[in-house]
Amino acid sequence: MIIGTGRAVPKRVLTNFDLEKMVDTTDEWIRERTGIERRYIADEKDTTSGLCAEAGRAALQAAQIPAEKIDAIVLATVTGDVTFPSTACYVQEILGAENAAAFDIAAACTGFIYGLSMADSLIASGKAQHVLVIGGEMLTRITDWTDRATCVLFGDAAGAAVLGPSDGKRGLIDTFMKSDGRLTHLLCMPGGGTKVPADVALAERLMFLKMEGREVFKHAVTAMGDAAEHILAKNNLTGDDIHLLIPHQANMRIINATAKRVGMPLEKVYVNVQNYGNTSAASIPIAIDEALENGRLKSGDRCLLVAFGGGFTWGSVIVQF
Ligand code: ACO
Repeated sequence: MIIGTGRAVPKRVLTNFDLEKMVDTTDEWIRERTGIERRYIADEKDTTSGLCAEAGRAALQAAQIPAEKIDAIVLATVTGDVTFPSTACYVQEILGAENAAAFDIAAACTGFIYGLSMADSLIASGKAQHVLVIGGEMLTRITDWTDRATCVLFGDAAGAAVLGPSDGKRGLIDTFMKSDGRLTHLLCMPGGGTKVPADVALAERLMFLKMEGREVFKHAVTAMGDAAEHILAKNNLTGDDIHLLIPHQANMRIINATAKRVGMPLEKVYVNVQNYGNTSAASIPIAIDEALENGRLKSGDRCLLVAFGGGFTWGSVIVQF
């Protein structure tokens, strides 16, 4: 079960009006097509591990668990500090989690869902008692600021949750994960790995996130709806049995379509995409943390999490709070 959550954002805010001065776009276009109004942007000194550690520390504090009691750090990111070692190891050092295993998960915007599933399995199998799951990204570091079709979409942030054994009443009811690697090319950073090494990638501007927006949109709508429907049906539940739907915050139109598929009114859907933009793996833990803080999520509530991202990957989780 989730016993504590936390979040962290960089200081600097970039509004749609700021973007109007950078590329050929308008606040109206961005709001109408995505729902985004502003996003947080890292400065030169910020690091993904720094943001993740800050969110992780807040989650540990909320859970009232010392860092030494964490058995594993599962960190979801596609914008880690370096290609290797894992960003989870940097966070392990910052937090002083001296008894923890540490590893990264690269499932883009579905990363936190995958992370929760891993943590749940580690705890259920008795291999761990407490697991710190973090979703953190600095997508603006791999954003092409001359490409108006992508640079208006993303923001930097981290969110975290400490998971511990279920008390019999609260916990993760079920998790679902899926992927389709035939569609890797629709959303990716083509350069900088072993396929297109950094020096070649730099010359060909392949060190940036590339996205076929319209295609990704279509798949996101279908997959998010499928993931939500699948996990509800498998657990003999409907949208009526869910108190709060927390979808990945990429685009208001995708959020609306997902809510419609499971017959949930917008009053039962958590939305904060206007304030953060798409923060990939960080979006769901940030929303959970905010919802617990502002009372949208209360003890006893049943919550449906659903996400879709690069890979493609998608998945869902039902949590009893
Ligand atoms: N400002 C103004 N006009 C723009 C901008 C902009 N920032 N960007 C694109 N346009 C123009 C296009 O050039 C196009 O013009 P044209 O008709 O003259 O050719 C027009 O607007 C429409 O472009 P589309 O790409 O068709 O716009 P669409 O309505 O599809 O919205 C968007 C684009 C917001 C990117 C949408 O496709 C989307 O949200 N896609 C999904 C993104 C997503 O959910 N990703 C999730 C995973 S992210 C991850 O895993 C890291």
